[in-house]
Amino acid sequence: MLPQAGFVTSRVLAIESSCDETAAAVVEGNRVLSSVVRSQIEVHEKFGGVVPELASRHHLGAVVPVVDEALSAAGVELPSIDAFAVTEGPGLMGALLVGVQMARGLALATDRPLVGVHHMEGHLWSAFLGDDTRPARPFVPHLALLVSGGHTELVDVAGLGRYEILGATRDDAAGEAYDKVAKMLGLGYPGGPAIDRLAAEGCGTAVKLPRAMADRPTLDFSFSGLKTAVRVHVDRTGSPDSRQALADLCASFQAAVVDVLVLKALRALRQTGRDRLHIVGGVAANRGLREAAAQAATQHGFTFEAVPMRYCGDNAAMIGAAAAARFDAGVRRDVDVHTSLPIDDARMLLP
Ligand code: KG4
Ligand code: ZN
Repeated sequence: MLPQAGFVTSRVLAIESSCDETAAAVVEGNRVLSSVVRSQIEVHEKFGGVVPELASRHHLGAVVPVVDEALSAAGVELPSIDAFAVTEGPGLMGALLVGVQMARGLALATDRPLVGVHHMEGHLWSAFLGDDTRPARPFVPHLALLVSGGHTELVDVAGLGRYEILGATRDDAAGEAYDKVAKMLGLGYPGGPAIDRLAAEGCGTAVKLPRAMADRPTLDFSFSGLKTAVRVHVDRTGSPDSRQALADLCASFQAAVVDVLVLKALRALRQTGRDRLHIVGGVAANRGLREAAAQAATQHGFTFEAVPMRYCGDNAAMIGAAAAARFDAGVRRDVDVHTSLPIDDARMLLP
């Protein structure tokens, strides 16, 4: 029986480069000593999305300084690192390889082990991160709503490497829907934060939009119909001609996304008997979602804890914490880069 992932203490230097953030962090178990994230938003925003070739090139230029900065911000030297960790997928192949080669080089040069981490397992572990402003959290079995640019999943998290996907999106991920709608409304890339800001000024019932699959028993999601409904609304009424009209449309879109996410999360909590909900991933930074989830969880007697904003989006601290848990549990295997892989794939699961 593997030890439960609780407070682990190995010192890990982790690298994350799966998409458009070059990140490095030093952690001791779930405690973050440093977390450096260099975003490539400025590189990609003029194209309205991530350009893979440009992402790889910018990771190459950033990875060494970002690792250096993580070490110096943590106040530690390379020889004091117990293990290195890196995101092995899913993600963009060229981008992943930059992080993997850097981590391999560091592990070889220092004769330390290298731990490969599934990006989504990293997001799951972001729930337990602590730092100077927040104590590290021990592992507790729970239900995770994992919402990012590429994923929308309800995951039963029973232990380290014991993940069961209860429901997932059948088409667009929630973050992808945010990004596509934002592009449609001329709000730039990435769209989530812009829509979230405008939604705070608008009325969520101003535009009637669908809640896909809300009344079906499945825990799956679908967001492409919602995106189309926004498009149809814009085609019919024209682009919003005032800030208020734009804010109302954003608020209505956000309410449609949040309603379904919260409704299905509550349904999954009831079905599994779990009493704790964590929302993780880039979209977990959404203010509307955080408020609605907190309110619904309290109302129905569940515990809800929001991941600190700085650990919602892609970062290496979450990769380090997941790696420390795997390392301390004695898991040893080669890093295996892959562009797509579900979190409940056999390679990720532990007995
Ligand atoms: O986890 P993440 O940083 O990268 C992936 O693994 O995909 O998530 C990025 C996604 C983007 O789609 C972005 O628009 C969305 O998270 N996002 C948000 C917010 N902040 C970031 N979506 C809604 N509201 C936000 N405040
Ligand atoms: Zn992510």
